[in-house]
Amino acid sequence: RAQKLELITQRLRGFPDFPIKGILFRDICPILKDPKCTAAVTDLFEEYVRKKHPIVDLIVGLDARGFLFGPLLAQRLGVGFVLVRKKGKLPGPVKSLSYDLEYGKADAEIQEDAIAPGQKVLVIDDLLATGGTLCAACELLKVQQAVVLDCLVVVELKDLSGAERLKPHTVFSLVSYD
Ligand code: PRP
Ligand code: HPA
Repeated sequence: RAQKLELITQRLRGFPDFPIKGILFRDICPILKDPKCTAAVTDLFEEYVRKKHPIVDLIVGLDARGFLFGPLLAQRLGVGFVLVRKKGKLPGPVKSLSYDLEYGKADAEIQEDAIAPGQKVLVIDDLLATGGTLCAACELLKVQQAVVLDCLVVVELKDLSGAERLKPHTVFSLVSYD
C-alpha cells in the first residue's frame, strides 16, 4: 500500500498559474500514462471500498476526469457506472444544477432515469478542491433519492476545505496537499 501511494505521489505534477493566475494545477496525466500507477489507484480504491462499503449498486463519475478512474473501479467491483456531465451533453430528460469550482462556474447534469430511488452509490472524481463540483453531484443524487455512501478522489487540496463543504458526505482521498 505504501509503495502504491508513493508511486501515485511521484506521478503527480504541479503547474503554477493554470488555468488562471494563482492556481497551482495538480496534473493527473502522468498517472494514466503509467499502467502500473493507474492500477495502483484502482487497487487502493477497491481495497477501501471492499472494507468500508460491502454493498454498492453504482459508481457515479464526474465530468471529465472522474470518467478516467470511475469505470476502472466499477469493473473491479462488478457494478455499473453512471455519468454526471457538464450541461448539454446528455440526451433525454435530465436534472441540472449550477455550481462554482476553484476556477470558474459550471452546470452538472444527470439523466433522470440513471438511478433508482434507494440505490447506493459512490461518487468519484480525480480531485477535490473547493468541493463545489462534488457538492453539486451529491445534490443531484439527493434529488434522485440515491444514497451517497462516500466520495472518492485521487487528490485532495486540503487548504480549500472541500471536505468541510461536503459534509455530511464523507470523502476518501489517496493523496492530499495542504
Ligand atoms: C476539476 C476537477 C474536479 C473539480 C474540482 O474539473 O477535475 O472535477 O475541478 O474543483 P472543485 O472541488 O473546486 O469543484 P473541471 O471542472 O476543471 O473540469 P474538467 O474535468 O472537465 O477538466
Ligand atoms: N488540478 C486539477 N483539477 C483541479 C485543480 C487542480 O489543481 N483545482 C481544481 N480543479
